[in-house]
Amino acid sequence: MLITRHAAAEAVLADPRYVPPPVPQDGAEATLAWLRARVSRFSTGATHAERRRALVALLDGIDPAELRVRAGALTERRNGDWRGVPTEVLGAALGVADTAPVADAAAGYLSGESGPAADAAVAKLLATTGIPEITLLLQAHTATETLIEHALRRLTLGTDADALLRETLRHDPPLTVTRRIDTETGDEVTIDLVAANRDPDVFPDPERFDPHRAHSPHLTFGHGVRPCPGPPRARPGGGRPGGTAAVNFRDLHRPGDPFLLPNAWDYGSAALLAAHGFPAIGTTSLGVSAVHGKPDAAGATKAETIGLAKTISGLGVMVTVDIEGGFSDDPGEVSDLVATLAAIGVAGVNLEDGRPDGTLRPIELHQRIIEAAKGHGVFVNARTDTCWLKTGDTLERVRAYGHADGIFVPGLSDPAAIAEVVAATPLPVNVLYQPDGPPLARLAEAGVARVSTGSLLYRAALGAALGTALGVRGEPAPPIPTYQEIAATLR
Ligand code: HEM
Repeated sequence: MLITRHAAAEAVLADPRYVPPPVPQDGAEATLAWLRARVSRFSTGATHAERRRALVALLDGIDPAELRVRAGALTERRNGDWRGVPTEVLGAALGVADTAPVADAAAGYLSGESGPAADAAVAKLLATTGIPEITLLLQAHTATETLIEHALRRLTLGTDADALLRETLRHDPPLTVTRRIDTETGDEVTIDLVAANRDPDVFPDPERFDPHRAHSPHLTFGHGVRPCPGPPRARPGGGRPGGTAAVNFRDLHRPGDPFLLPNAWDYGSAALLAAHGFPAIGTTSLGVSAVHGKPDAAGATKAETIGLAKTISGLGVMVTVDIEGGFSDDPGEVSDLVATLAAIGVAGVNLEDGRPDGTLRPIELHQRIIEAAKGHGVFVNARTDTCWLKTGDTLERVRAYGHADGIFVPGLSDPAAIAEVVAATPLPVNVLYQPDGPPLARLAEAGVARVSTGSLLYRAALGAALGTALGVRGEPAPPIPTYQEIAATLR
């Protein structure tokens, strides 16, 4: 069966009933066939999970921003000759000094077409390093080289590199098909990734190659149960500090025509939202805190917040992170945090002036914190909690944070008050969607540029879970829990 539609491709890739076609298990030791029988990519079930975990652990120890810097420096030293550079740099990060045999071994890795050169290359690699390291090098090699080659064909002066790569990944991917076996029927399913990436259901103008497009959803890195774990490393600009992720994110902010930013709390919620076409996803600090059993807005979840950003940064959508007050009153520490997030590939951060004790940070200090967060190429959304905490002067704060990239006033829902804030600042204004407040169209009329859902989705998910459990006991579903109800469980 051939699959060409985006939704059908996603469904197959997300269903564990479909597995990669099995590979022969009987190759002579240290040959390519022997290796293929031992790697994550061609295995299934618990074996796959275990092998994949080992690869992801190795990748987690690698800083994508560092790979990018090293690759740039090495290409420069070689006068622009980039061939072999990504593999050499990844090899160095994995402790593999000699990556010369990788190209020969990689040539038949996916197809299984082996020969003396490939077998000798595998033996050479095995003499110096382990199967997980070799797997990563072979998986990465051909895909990365092909991607660069394809993107360079389309390169013209002034084209933004990130956008060029995104559109190249969609139209001209290194891997054009992927296969699965239906374990119930034994049928082979071929997924045409190029056709699925150009599905008119997903794009109004699917065939157009537009290197200026801010958002190009695609299945090029796979999807569902076994997607490519490499994307942040594979995209040279993916984590670039000062890069264009933030520029594209900024473009989403159109006063009077707001974009809806749903907020996720874990990988599953982010992946689900990304799969449904939201161009950007925020995080919710209440959700992150509750997942880890820690209080919200108390500066207690810095590591967890960075961890979530890392986990969801490879989903192919822009990510903006709720970093509470920056987890510190020290501008230097906040600057370091934002630099870390920029290196992960995050497009934006939210910085709030509310403090755990219900007071507001002094204006001058919050101004310095905002200043410290700037300069990393990340969109800095300055949040004032005057309405939230019912203290302080909203307009004074909005004007004082004019050096940020955007203004966020949660708790503000009266359209006239919103319009007043919009008039008080040249920056795009963000408000929180409230189920009992004005609808999106009314917020648009008030001049809003971004509408976030905050903790609503997380609370709704908890409400649905509780309602389902109570339903099994024959009891009626409760309303969505309030912020205060969930926060109270975390003290
Ligand atoms: C540059 C472009 C790349 C593309 C387009 C790409 C694409 C893919 C796709 C589509 C899959 C899933 C195949 C399937 O099961 O159907 C995959 C798997 C994989 N990729 Fe990539 N990849 C790229 C780069 C990389 C890099 C740089 C690395 C490592 C640093 C990497 C590591 C892996 C690994 C380890 C798997 C197997 C995952 C598993 O067994 O669960 N890839 N890749």
